[in-house]
Amino acid sequence: MSNYHIKHLEEYYQVYRKSVREPENFWEEVAEEHFMWQKKWDHVLSWDFIKPEVKWFEGAQLNITENCIDRHLATRGNKTAILFEPNDPKEDAEHITYTQLHQRVNKFANVLKDQGIKKGDRVCVYLPMIPELAIAVLACARIGAIHSVVFAGFSATALSTRINDSDCKMVITSDGSYRGAKTIDLKGIVDEALNECTCVETVLVAKRIHSDIDMKSGRDKWLQPLLDAASTDCKAALMNAEDPLFILYTSGSTGLPKGMVHTTAGYMVYTAYSFKNAFQYKEDDVYWCTADIGWITGHSYIVYGPLANGATTIMFEGVPSYPDFGRFWEIIEKHKVNQFYTAPTAIRALAKQGLELVEKYDLSTLKVLGSVGEPINEEAWHWYNDNVGKKKSPIVDTWWQTETGGIMITPIPFVTPTKPTYATLPFIGIQPALMDEDGNELKGNQIDGRLCIKFPWPSMARTIWGNHQRYKDTYFSAYKNMYFTGDGALRDDVGYYRITGRVDDVIIVSGHNLGTAPIEDAINEHPAVAESAIVGFPHDVKGNALYGYVILKDVGETRDQDNLRKEINQIITEHIGPIAKLDKIQFTKGLPKTRSGKIMRRILRKIAHKDTSNLGDTSTLLNPEVVQDIMDNAL
Ligand code: PRX
Repeated sequence: MSNYHIKHLEEYYQVYRKSVREPENFWEEVAEEHFMWQKKWDHVLSWDFIKPEVKWFEGAQLNITENCIDRHLATRGNKTAILFEPNDPKEDAEHITYTQLHQRVNKFANVLKDQGIKKGDRVCVYLPMIPELAIAVLACARIGAIHSVVFAGFSATALSTRINDSDCKMVITSDGSYRGAKTIDLKGIVDEALNECTCVETVLVAKRIHSDIDMKSGRDKWLQPLLDAASTDCKAALMNAEDPLFILYTSGSTGLPKGMVHTTAGYMVYTAYSFKNAFQYKEDDVYWCTADIGWITGHSYIVYGPLANGATTIMFEGVPSYPDFGRFWEIIEKHKVNQFYTAPTAIRALAKQGLELVEKYDLSTLKVLGSVGEPINEEAWHWYNDNVGKKKSPIVDTWWQTETGGIMITPIPFVTPTKPTYATLPFIGIQPALMDEDGNELKGNQIDGRLCIKFPWPSMARTIWGNHQRYKDTYFSAYKNMYFTGDGALRDDVGYYRITGRVDDVIIVSGHNLGTAPIEDAINEHPAVAESAIVGFPHDVKGNALYGYVILKDVGETRDQDNLRKEINQIITEHIGPIAKLDKIQFTKGLPKTRSGKIMRRILRKIAHKDTSNLGDTSTLLNPEVVQDIMDNAL
């Protein structure tokens, strides 16, 4: 009997030991007992971190939607699967039962087929947080199409880059979206993006804001009439365990975003198992993750993990500040939420609003509080614990990544004693290692190093779409036989992990991964800009904010600097999206460079952090004189 549900600490250690000593037996038992397979596997795991190549449950055949929907119909047909809470609190919430979800996913899947989508085709989903988003994702999975969800806050340029990279045949979008008091012209953004894409044959358009939009004849089709005409029967495609389920893009420190490829069986088993345990979900609980399905958190812990457990999962369309900063708490009271999963940046923003808004609502149904996306600082941890959880709901600080597919280091609530700012212990099956810069593993406790994972886990990404070499270089080359996370971590005296942040040029702003290179490339598009460098600096709500050092082409540039700053942020918004805007822009004559021409970001980071007492070794600089000048003019 596998331990699908861990209930106390001794059991955690016992199950953890088993998962490490006999990983194949362990995951085979979990897979065997809790999922629906059309054909069982021939082999549980084969792996090689040098190639790198990882395969779980090879030979098995299944469809993830049968596991997320069909198998619940007999026992949970009338249970709410997706609870949709609209942007406007005056609009009614929508309860979609498992039976209704089954019908809607099948109809949507039939529409995809009718429009010529086949197994293995890529479908880009660019939708706001409305039920059609989850349904579109599941409909792709139903027929074996590979979904590539792009967060609907990304710009037309960012969207077209992603569409082209994975050669998407279709885009699913809406006429627009609501975001608090604003509306956004999503279809207009898609039209602009598609000027740069030749691969897209069809655009399906859901109606949300009922705006007057252009429909390109032959390409654009309204979704609803097609759904109305479609059958509610759609046989699930038979997928191999290692067939791609989806592509999801994440920023790297350089170059184009990386299309992380997740496959079917291992991803399903791990997200389901980790959801059950990390949130201690029980049958009648109402679970709410505030992320957007455009990010991995939404894929794994709004859609697949919860639905694979027959859970009720909330999808919230709006923002925490609309109509006021009490909205999250209002929703918790209204839907009697039991597990609440959000990001530290949201907690910090809400903590700033004072306690009245929290105290106005009944939060007594809460059992578990989750945090994800960036390190949670001590102050935010305590505020969350004291005022939201009233010191009775454990905080699960879950560390993981787009690449890992599921939660990797986390307390198990009511099982693992929590410690502020610590993600605590590795989850079942996860074997972390801390490494020094020379490639040695640091054994023992009370040390810090670079966080790696030594052994494959079922939900790890298998490659980068179209660029396996980049996958190898990014994750498997820094340390031999290890997956390198890009994060630093420390291990305390009892073996708890605390994530200290990125050790590469990725900056986490409000929980969003941003690579410095694409932002610099965008800035350099401004006709007045010669060169730029971006670093992060601490921000009390966003965690980190962006500081840009910009060299202008014409040193005597007389234009209003504030205007230039606005123009630079406008370009960033157009190329990436508003999430990548810079908080500070310093115009400078030069950037500190090594003799080989590399920008010494360490110095720029220290200046942005206002920590210039010890700049470290600057003897290798080609132009040490610029450092003083940058310091003198720092913002
Ligand atoms: O630096 C870590 C940070 O977010 C990065 C992964 O970002 P992304 O792929 O967008 O996935 C975010 C949601 C899973 C990590 O490399 N990060 C994520 N969770 C935590 C965290 N840092 C500290 N504590 C966390 N709980």
